[in-house]
Amino acid sequence: MNSVTSMDQTARDIMHANDKGGYTVPTHGLYPYQWNWDSAFAAYGFAQFDVERAWVELETLFSSQWDNGMVPHIIFHQQDPGYFPGPDVWQGTGPLPSSGISQPPVAATMAKLVFDKDPEMGRKRIGALYDKMIAWHQWFMDWRLDNDAVCITHPWEAGRDNAPDWDIAMAAIEPGDVGEYTRRDTTHVDSSMRPTKYDYDRYIWLVKRGVALDWDDAAMLDNTPFRVADPTMTFTLLRAQRDLADFGRMLGRDVTATEAAIKQLENGAKSLWNKELASYDSRDVNSGQWSGAISNASFLCWYAGLKAPEMKSVLNEVMSTVKYGIPSLDTRNEKFDAKRYWRGPVWPMFNNLIAMGLDEMGMQEGAKLRQSTADLIMEHGFSEYFDPLDGTPAGGRSFTWTAAIWLGWASPSAGAK
Ligand code: SER
Repeated sequence: MNSVTSMDQTARDIMHANDKGGYTVPTHGLYPYQWNWDSAFAAYGFAQFDVERAWVELETLFSSQWDNGMVPHIIFHQQDPGYFPGPDVWQGTGPLPSSGISQPPVAATMAKLVFDKDPEMGRKRIGALYDKMIAWHQWFMDWRLDNDAVCITHPWEAGRDNAPDWDIAMAAIEPGDVGEYTRRDTTHVDSSMRPTKYDYDRYIWLVKRGVALDWDDAAMLDNTPFRVADPTMTFTLLRAQRDLADFGRMLGRDVTATEAAIKQLENGAKSLWNKELASYDSRDVNSGQWSGAISNASFLCWYAGLKAPEMKSVLNEVMSTVKYGIPSLDTRNEKFDAKRYWRGPVWPMFNNLIAMGLDEMGMQEGAKLRQSTADLIMEHGFSEYFDPLDGTPAGGRSFTWTAAIWLGWASPSAGAK
């Protein structure tokens, strides 16, 4: 096993190697552009040893913001033929070449962690970002709510691409006219660890639909072939609104609208409670059906600032079935697949978010989760995700957000720097 010091150094080396100057790729090859929530985690990682660089990461991310407030999920700073679908397929309408959908809004929360590392520098940097974050969060409130819960319009928007949460909505899509295309992801990673062709046909079909509508929010809302109310989005936005309200109060701004949004999203969280499953769950808006999936996103309730005492036993049951952390899908679900992306593997950065909530609620499971994530990375490296039963590394290697959360949270030296 590696020493903590050498692990810390490896994590920094990964972040430097993935640093393209102003933004960080999640990993070379598989994801050669700037991804939205990956970048927010990168800022958190950089903040452990270079706070200035952390702010630059967030500033570059927000330089891609569209006029309507949306901050895209991929920003294509430089063309790279190793990735599909690229800028020519997406045809985003913002100031930089980008995708046309967003991603879980963790940036305000990560900005708070960056701020705390150097409040003096933070006070100089947060003002301009604050207004951009307000506009982004408002875009979710304006265009993505159903029963006050936040919806996604594409599986990639939740970041949990092939989670079973979308199976019902995906089955309702008939992508007959999607045309020919060549995937690149399976040239970088074994196909057993990635979404299937069935999934990809629908992913691309949805992108083409967005392009045909010029990514116009109102037109896209007119008829919604894919719209799922999702705990990832609802809980991350609820948390991010709380953090943004804190920034607003510090800056002396009027935070009435943000406080109202918090109330609305708290209400929305209630609409994600699946009584039969006794867990937070995703809800297909078109059919009204539950997905029936206890996912790692279900456990973001505490991170969102909800007390959720009824989720504690669910958490302990799920944790007791795996060796490492929290699986992306409950192992007892018949769709559990230990190595296939969001249908079973454990994701270290997700554990970090969940543990933030557990710690804040004074729940001892937060420390347990941190320890098992530290063990996982010490024993199996800095991969994108891992088999939660035996720790086998999966997906991309030398991964930015795994390195970032190691430095900020999982490393035994975290907090001591
Ligand atoms: N995660 C997607 C991919 O695998 C895009 O966001 O390409």
